Amino acid sequence: MKKDRKTYDQLRSARWYGVPTLRAFGHHSRTKQMGFAAEDYQGKPVIGIINTWSDMNSCHTHFPQRVEEIKRGVWQAGGFPVELPAMSVGEPFVKPTTMLYRNLLAMEVEELLRSHPIDGVVLMGGCDKTTPALLMAATSMNLPAIYFPAGPMLRGNYQGKVLGSGSDVWKYWAEKRAGQLSDEAWAELEDGIARSAGTCMTMGTAATMMSLAETLGFVLPGGSSIPAPDSGHARLASATGRRIVDLVWEDLKPSDILSRAAFENAITVDLALAGSTNSIVHLIAMARRAGIALDLETFDRIAARVPVLADIRPAGRFLMEDFYYAGGLRGLHARLRDFLHLDCPSVNGRTLGENTEGAAVYLDEVIRPLTNPVWESGGLAVLRGNLAPRGAVIKPPAAAKELLVHTGPAVVFKDYNDMERRIDDPALPVTADSVLVLQDAGPVGAPGMPEWGQLPIPKKLLAQGVRDMVRISDARMSGTSYGACVLHVAPESRVGGPLALVRDGDLIELDVPARRLHLHVDEAELTRRRAAWSPLPRRYGRGYGWLHAQHITQADQGCDFDFMETGFGDPVGEPEIH
Ligand code: FES
Repeated sequence: MKKDRKTYDQLRSARWYGVPTLRAFGHHSRTKQMGFAAEDYQGKPVIGIINTWSDMNSCHTHFPQRVEEIKRGVWQAGGFPVELPAMSVGEPFVKPTTMLYRNLLAMEVEELLRSHPIDGVVLMGGCDKTTPALLMAATSMNLPAIYFPAGPMLRGNYQGKVLGSGSDVWKYWAEKRAGQLSDEAWAELEDGIARSAGTCMTMGTAATMMSLAETLGFVLPGGSSIPAPDSGHARLASATGRRIVDLVWEDLKPSDILSRAAFENAITVDLALAGSTNSIVHLIAMARRAGIALDLETFDRIAARVPVLADIRPAGRFLMEDFYYAGGLRGLHARLRDFLHLDCPSVNGRTLGENTEGAAVYLDEVIRPLTNPVWESGGLAVLRGNLAPRGAVIKPPAAAKELLVHTGPAVVFKDYNDMERRIDDPALPVTADSVLVLQDAGPVGAPGMPEWGQLPIPKKLLAQGVRDMVRISDARMSGTSYGACVLHVAPESRVGGPLALVRDGDLIELDVPARRLHLHVDEAELTRRRAAWSPLPRRYGRGYGWLHAQHITQADQGCDFDFMETGFGDPVGEPEIH
């Protein structure tokens, strides 16, 4: 629905700059203190640029240059750009996990936008949690917003072989633990795997979420697939800067873009990409911020009919750089037209269908045709059973096929430290048929539900050539990981979910076609164990970690804070402030 263009006095920033008050004197004089003349900002929309750059986020190392390019676009279009740094949550460096801080970043950005004279915002993110956090904030604040994706890094290289972020680390680490890789070779891998600025270039959480941000309508068309060092990425930055100014005048807000249909599009594309399982948690949280309840069954239902078309690691063979050359996300959208709601709007003012017109695929082996998919359907499966009453997920294309129906005895680790201590113990009673169970790795337990779900294969089994096993946890798994890993078991063990009741030797049945995860222990015994169970003390006794433990929701609800969801307390929007 077309709205009237806004006038200057309808802008938020007019409350700071457009009124003859004493406080406005301070806003003017302090803006001038920064070297801006009245004609630089007077009468213009103020465009906030949220920059998640820091020296502790290696994926965003190009943001200092990109922010200047975004500003250039804003100036060209008649806006006034202001840069607001926000926490960077760089995936490789944050302990115990960036997921602990996704909601903190979302809260920080929402309040940055609320408290400053911002009319519209460019959100600069890419490394895993930054994308959902920034979009959750923009959704709750509901200001015109464009997401600017960091873009994937270039392909890795090692002795003439192509390396993929994460996936090859797990692969070569297994070789190293099996004694088949020298320290020198390991150092060479370190040198070659991350060659440029940009996010992981496998279909990990970053590439998945950037693609989904574009599918939802928050990125200029085609933007999410451009590799970070490509000159097209710099041009995307200035185009984003130009467009956000018009978006403010047009008053096109997240609430105009987000709908159930838009989220169904995102899920469809997620599945066609064989995207990261983390996206499930993020999409649910993002949807709930928009007042839309997404349940796990929606993912399972869409998964049952959408084929995996992107042949990208870890489920496939290629990398994001290849995906870009093959036609990128617009090419994939074009292939998926029959599965998508094409009338969903996007930030360029056109619909998804209009944005897909003329898009083509140039490399059929990278973005497969519908007649030759990587996987017919079922890129994701939602499991239920007495071990996961509120659900668990598995990514079947990333697992060894013969393990998708498997029953085996449990080998239980009571937490991550226990697992690290014992996993390679030659005395560990484990065989290739065992089911490895990791407890206490969920949203409250770990805390923050770290990416520990791809438990390592015990060394003695590696030596026998075993490369995949059934593994079950309430943790997440890196999008770059693979294996028969059952993840996001809800409710988690720390809050008394049935996962906490599993003992060594219990038989566990995984049946992916039947969507079943069953603990073969009779109910009377489970009741006895439950009565004897008591919760462990929480890990953080104060501050943010304490707040997190009090208010985090479970995986099936998106792990947002209960008090941040739409529907909590007052209606979302701006309180009357002066
Ligand atoms: Fe930043 Fe993977 S480490 S995207």
